[in-house]
Amino acid sequence: MITEESVREVIDSARVEDVVGDFVNLRRRGNNYSGLCPFHNEKTPSFNVNPARNIYKCFGCGVGGDPVKFLMELEQLSFPDAIRWIARKYNIKLEETEVSEEVRAELQERDSLLIANDFARKYYAEQLLDTDEGKSIALSYFRARGFRKEAIETFGLGYAPNQRDGLLQAATAAGFGEDQLEKLGLVRNGRDFFRDRVMFTIHNLAGKPIAFAGRILKKDVKAPKYINSPETEVYHKSDVLYGMYQARQAVRKLDNIFMVEGYTDVISLYQSGIRNVVATSGTSLTAGQAKLVKRFTENVTLLYDGDKAGVKAALRGVDVLLSADLNVRVVVLPEGKDPDGYMQEVGVTVFEQYLTDARKDFLFFKADILLEEAGDDVAARSAAIRDISSTLALVTDPLKRAGYLQQFSAKLGIDESLLVGLVNGAIADHRSERKKAAEREQRRQARSSGGTSAPPPPTSEDDWGGLSEPAWLDTSSDDPGPVAAGGAPPPVAGSPAAEPRQPEIGHGHQEQHFVHLLVRDGHKWYDEPTKTTIAGFLTANVADLLGDFDVATYREAVEQVTDHLRSTGGAPDPDWYTRHADERIRQLATEAVTSPYTYSPNWQEKYGLRLSQKMPDENQRLAAELFLRIFRMEKIERKGKENTLLIARYQREGNFEKLKTHMKVQMKLDEMRISLAKELGTVVLSR
Ligand code: UTP
Ligand code: MN
Repeated sequence: MITEESVREVIDSARVEDVVGDFVNLRRRGNNYSGLCPFHNEKTPSFNVNPARNIYKCFGCGVGGDPVKFLMELEQLSFPDAIRWIARKYNIKLEETEVSEEVRAELQERDSLLIANDFARKYYAEQLLDTDEGKSIALSYFRARGFRKEAIETFGLGYAPNQRDGLLQAATAAGFGEDQLEKLGLVRNGRDFFRDRVMFTIHNLAGKPIAFAGRILKKDVKAPKYINSPETEVYHKSDVLYGMYQARQAVRKLDNIFMVEGYTDVISLYQSGIRNVVATSGTSLTAGQAKLVKRFTENVTLLYDGDKAGVKAALRGVDVLLSADLNVRVVVLPEGKDPDGYMQEVGVTVFEQYLTDARKDFLFFKADILLEEAGDDVAARSAAIRDISSTLALVTDPLKRAGYLQQFSAKLGIDESLLVGLVNGAIADHRSERKKAAEREQRRQARSSGGTSAPPPPTSEDDWGGLSEPAWLDTSSDDPGPVAAGGAPPPVAGSPAAEPRQPEIGHGHQEQHFVHLLVRDGHKWYDEPTKTTIAGFLTANVADLLGDFDVATYREAVEQVTDHLRSTGGAPDPDWYTRHADERIRQLATEAVTSPYTYSPNWQEKYGLRLSQKMPDENQRLAAELFLRIFRMEKIERKGKENTLLIARYQREGNFEKLKTHMKVQMKLDEMRISLAKELGTVVLSR
């Protein structure tokens, strides 16, 4: 461990303009500097460095902090590694305290394994570049494939000659133990594992070799085309993507990553200038790999071979990406081409044009394939629609989901509300699965803590002043439940979340009206051909905002109706409410049938609408739509106001981390508001 004094020395020495200057071209502007932000793609500089305060800040994307934070974020370093990086830069000698024997042994072991791997990398490189055999057999092979010197170096390409123990001999002569080489999978039973193959190095995020792959040179033999290092202490396959080290900065900057299948695809694209590319190495994607990607970008483009296997590979494992809340697009290459081959054939301009033209949103890609397979078969077609709905349910961002719903209903030729129902069903299934899993986990914990259930720990992170963060923006949460989107967790007594909302911004009246609408008209048709009731329509479209209801009774009433719809498939009629076991619901029912419809008094003025106080029957559908939109608009506007206050506060406090999150929230809310405003416009016009 680095001592505290050493850490302090490093932090005191680090000049933000020096550290940032190693990565960004900075220009002086008065006392400050500015440059192009390395965290997002931009053409005019909005990235600022303030030497007096020793901080950086981007006014484009909101990132900011001190030199250590800069390194941690840009280079994905841990805190100690960032400290080490700066220490090297300033020639500061770090004092490290003793760590426990065990930890030290482990670290040393890891370190020595990485050193041995690096020896192997050098050995393979020398065999490739400095021996006659290497040059004539392997280098010429790489050259024929169009790989240039720069790429050969960047990707640590090499050659393992056809010798029994060339590496073993060289490594032991250099002082490495045979047991180490065995642990790394480089040597087996006294023989080199990789023989007579061209070599590819697999790096970790710090650029150290952690594994190798060897490609066969002969065409005819039955041996596998590639052999790969086994799982070792330094190589956990499921957490690694080939090329991530080389791609990481481009990925962050372009905010998009291409995923291909093969090693050679990565190299070929990289040297043609498409640097944000990694390979899954022919296996299906894992949650660990999705997590890795998410540290750099949320936008993934799968770029798969133009054959059946490529398409299958694209379909497989995509749920993993969606569950990690990544945006997934797919490009399938022309029949029979892989990315490397196609790039070599047509060159980068045509290639990039193809990417733009053929890029499909994953959900559409999946839908096209499933629907094509189903053909006219009714059963297969409805299975396909169900399958698509369940994937749609993995999309947690309500705005995104709403967009999909609209487009898919058009594409599939079914009513949007029907699709909403299917998706909500899938969401509910998902939610109950998660709930069960959580309960199991709770029981397990209760057992392991000797049966005493401790109260949940207070959330130290909570500086939201009692306001609920939209769940769909909380990247730290791995709860993908879209119904819970916007739904704060049930308040824990004594926690800040249990505090009531400020009364002056209350929406009680509107929520009451919402429930009245449910009671009185919920059982009527919203759209008869698709058997969608007004209740079905209203509840589906408010699910993501339930957490923002001010009055618990109204929220619970909506939840009860939702459950009823789900379990019986139909909407409750007024009787159901008036005879309900819950006294509060009975009360609501009485109110609803005895009081007249009253919209919130200021709506008329605010939205310039002439709302009739009584809702004429023939206008039921329109009225429900209109009401719903205004209701959503009000909720979203309120969130926006709350969020603006928080932004101002974090700006004051210089809390850039929070600031960034809330700027994102604001953008989403604005998008939602604008699209709602548009819809409102249409409704008003069509009346
Ligand atoms: P491909 O067969 O598409 O190979 O396998 P490739 O990458 O295009 O290689 P070239 O162009 O023929 O030289 C895709 C990926 O699947 C893994 C490798 O990671 C490969 O890059 N693979 C394939 C193996 O691990 N073992 C194999 O035997 C074959
Ligand atoms: Mn290939």
